[in-house]
This record gives sequence, structure tokens and C-alpha cells, in this order.
Amino acid sequence: MNQEHRNNDRRHQQSHCKLPGDAELASCSIVIFGASGDLTARKLIPALVNLFSHGCLPSRFNIVGCGRSAMSNEDFRRHLADFDSQDRHTATTGQEWENFAGNIFYQQLTYDDPASYLQLAELLNRLDSERGTAPNRMFYLSVPPTLYPVIATQLGPAGLSEKSSHHWSRIVVEKPFGNDLASAESLDRTLHASFDEDQIFRIDHYLAKETVQNILMLRFANAIFEPLWNRNYVDYVGIVSCEKLGVEHRAGFYEQAGVLRDMFQNHMMQLLALTAMEPPSRFKADQVQDEKVKVFRSLKPLQRGRLAENLVLGQYGPGTIDGREVVGYRQEPKVAPDSLTPTFAAMKVGIDNWRWRGVPFYLVSGKRMPAKETRIIIQFKEVPHSMFNHETADNLLANRLLLEIHPEEKITLNFQAKTPGRKDSLHQAAMSFNYDRRREGGGTNFDAYEMVLLDCIIGDHMLFWRQDGVELSWGFLTPILAECENCPETASSLLQIYPAGTPGPEAAHTWLNLVAD
Ligand code: BG6
Repeated sequence: MNQEHRNNDRRHQQSHCKLPGDAELASCSIVIFGASGDLTARKLIPALVNLFSHGCLPSRFNIVGCGRSAMSNEDFRRHLADFDSQDRHTATTGQEWENFAGNIFYQQLTYDDPASYLQLAELLNRLDSERGTAPNRMFYLSVPPTLYPVIATQLGPAGLSEKSSHHWSRIVVEKPFGNDLASAESLDRTLHASFDEDQIFRIDHYLAKETVQNILMLRFANAIFEPLWNRNYVDYVGIVSCEKLGVEHRAGFYEQAGVLRDMFQNHMMQLLALTAMEPPSRFKADQVQDEKVKVFRSLKPLQRGRLAENLVLGQYGPGTIDGREVVGYRQEPKVAPDSLTPTFAAMKVGIDNWRWRGVPFYLVSGKRMPAKETRIIIQFKEVPHSMFNHETADNLLANRLLLEIHPEEKITLNFQAKTPGRKDSLHQAAMSFNYDRRREGGGTNFDAYEMVLLDCIIGDHMLFWRQDGVELSWGFLTPILAECENCPETASSLLQIYPAGTPGPEAAHTWLNLVAD
């Protein structure tokens, strides 16, 4: 055993890593396709470094970066370290980095060339025998989505997708999972040609947010909310995810996607499912997924030809963010000057089941809004009658439960209380819980990418999409997208321009008021 192995083994023994349940960390190789890209240096490597410094990587592991450029192992390690020193994404010391970097390797690869994958297989086998790692493989596709099928198709024939009772092979893909229902099904056929469903990990980074996971704890670890969590007591639900950022350098992708594909197909649908689902019998990935899927199946399709009743689309025009003038979407680099791509959507969704029939769910997401905020509002019904002389029932503010995900991580329950003094004077009071991850619970705190990578090593699918959910979500959105996109008149009549830095188009203001905090 060389010094490097001894360092890693010692680190692992000293680990403070608290793994979920009785999970074990099997030694493995993590292969990152798109190794020289931004995501690798900005998110994946810092996440892996942090897991390493918490002792949350296996005692033996290899990280193999793959990309088109020619690089030696040393070049690749230097590239990652340089990036890290510019941005200080990780909290490691020089020595920590040195210990970590000894586990990093690089393999040049042509994505559609079968020979490249045979060389990769050879490298992985060699690393296993030289460094004592088990033949467990994680393939992380940190590449543009057009390359997902190209890479997935090559892994099988090179023997890289094989699993057995002793070792695993897993593939990790990030959204977008296709561009509509048909392309999502086609991507899935390609993935399934080499991988079984239990080998596929489809990432949605919203699921890795602590406060998003906490929705299930709040609902199902407490007895007092569930009895009220239905059409008898809830007036409406609001789900909001807005941001100040514009399209940044992602116009190439965003022009094809727009807000419905970028935010609704994935993050908004997950928030909706977690809020609306029935309690699963066990807190296990498949049971939780089963309940989410039932929600997607119950989504009431928006009526064709009457989209405007349930959907407002917007696109940001020039405006001001934080006192700074910003250009409109159509003036952003690489955006068509007559683009009809929506950067804002407000949608009124119904869920046709026993629990939610008739309760509107207002989903709102937009770019270049006045603030970055993500929250879920459970608005309860008004009291049926006011016994207070000067107050009608309408004047009493109904109870509201606010689940804030950003900027604060907080749960607030609003209720009416007596104002000191006059006997019958009321005001709105609040009870709130601030989800301060540094103080509560005492577990190891992972950021979204750390959590996703760790769960993939452990093999836990809880925080990932299952394909039936992906398809049902696309099944709901595809007809809406088709109606908006196949008819330019519909698209332009539905789309309203809002100045950057304002809360979205006029037509959505009534709904926006309902979901304002
Ligand atoms: C991404 C979208 O999935 O989520 C981005 O592609 C968006 O357009 C981002 O900005 C928002 O994520 P968060 O975690 O900042 O709310």
C-alpha cells in the first residue's frame, strides 16, 4: 500500500461523515464526461473535495475526467486547482487538495468513437488493479444534452454498463431530460439500451435542497397539518420560484427551452408533487416516487384553445435590476430579435383527485424579477362566520402557512391574535421556525451537488427523478408547449413583455398578489 492509500484510509477512519441510514460507501471510480467544462470545475470537483474532507468519499476512489482535449493527469489536476484558486469554491488547504488530487486522472476521448471507450475501460481496469479500487463505476454526464445519447450508446458495448451482485455501474444525467414527451422517451430508450432503471440517476437540484426535503418531514412527521391539508381547508396553493438573473450566457439553450422547460417541467413539478402527494407507506425512494407519480397523473390538462384562462407567459424587456440598467431578453447575445421565448410563466393548475379537487395551484416562475425568492404558500380558507361585531369574516385574514426556500429557509404560520387593549381588536400574528442548518439536527451539511454525488455512490434514488414521473410531467406540458409554439399568433398573444426588475406581466398581477408573501 503506498502513502496515498494510507492517507486516504486514515482519513476515512477519522471521518465524521454521517451517512443516511446504514448506507455504506463502496470504493469506486467516478468518471466525469465533459471534464474541462465549467460544471466540472465549478461544482463537481469542489463537491467531491468537500465530501473528501468530511471523510464522505470511499477510502479508495478514482476520479477520471474525460474530454476531447488532450491533457495529462498533471495538466488536468492543475486546471482544476487553478480554477479553484481563482474562485475559492472549496474550503480545502493546499495539503488537502494534494491528498485529493492524487486520486484524479484524465483520459482523452472522442465521444462517438467506440475505441475511446475501450481505452477508458482499460484505464479503469488498470486503476482498479494498481490502486485496489472495486470495479464500481459512476458515469457523470457533465456535457451538453445532445451528447447524452452519444455517450450512453457507447458505454454498453464497451462493457462499462455491466453490473453484478458484487459491483455496480451507474449513469448520472442532468435536466433537460428531452425537449418534449417524444424526445424524453427516445432518450430513455437509449439509456435503457445499456442501463436498467436502477442504474440511472436523473438529477433535479431542487430535490437536494434541505428545505425542499423538509416538506415531507413537515407534512408527515407531524400530526397537526395533514388533517387540514386538503380541499376542505385549503383555499389555494402558491408555488413561486423567481430570480433576478437574466438568461446570462445560456441563450443557446434557453431560446429552445424557455421557462416552461427550464423550470416547470422539473423543479416546479417536484415542488408541486411534494406539496400535493399522499403519504407514502415508507420513506423509501420507490414508495415516495409512486406517490409523486399519482399527483402527475391527476394533473388536470389545460383546456386547448383556452390556454389564456390558466396561463400567462411573459418575456423581460429592458429595465432596472438593483439600480443597474439591464437589456431586455431580445437584446441578449444570441437571442433572436423577435424571439417569442417566455422567461416568465404563471400557471393555474388543478389536481383532479379526492384531496385537491377544486383547489387551484398557482405556479409562478420568472427571470429578471425584483428579487430572488422561492416559496410555497398554503393559503387556508376563511373562517365561515365572524363573531366579532366590527369585523366581517372577509376582513379577518385567513391562516397561511409559508414554506420559504430562498432567501430564508423558514416556515411561518400566520394567524389572528388579540391586540392588547380593546376587547375585540385583532391583528395578524406569526409563528415561525428558521431552518438554520448550522444549528439544527447536528448532521453533516451537504450542498446540492455533494448530496447528489453521495447518494449516487450509495445508490439511493430518493432525490432523483424516475422515468415515469419525467414522462407524465412532459405529458402534461407537451400539449401546452405545442399550442404555444406551433401557432405564432397564439404565442404572441399569450406572451407579454414586462420590464426587467418588475414582478411580471400585468395579466398575471391578480395571481401574483395571491402568492405575494
Ligand atoms: C436551473 C435553471 O435548473 O435552476 C436556471 O436552468 C435557474 O435557469 C436555476 O436559474 C434556479 O436554481 P436556484 O437553485 O438558483 O433556484
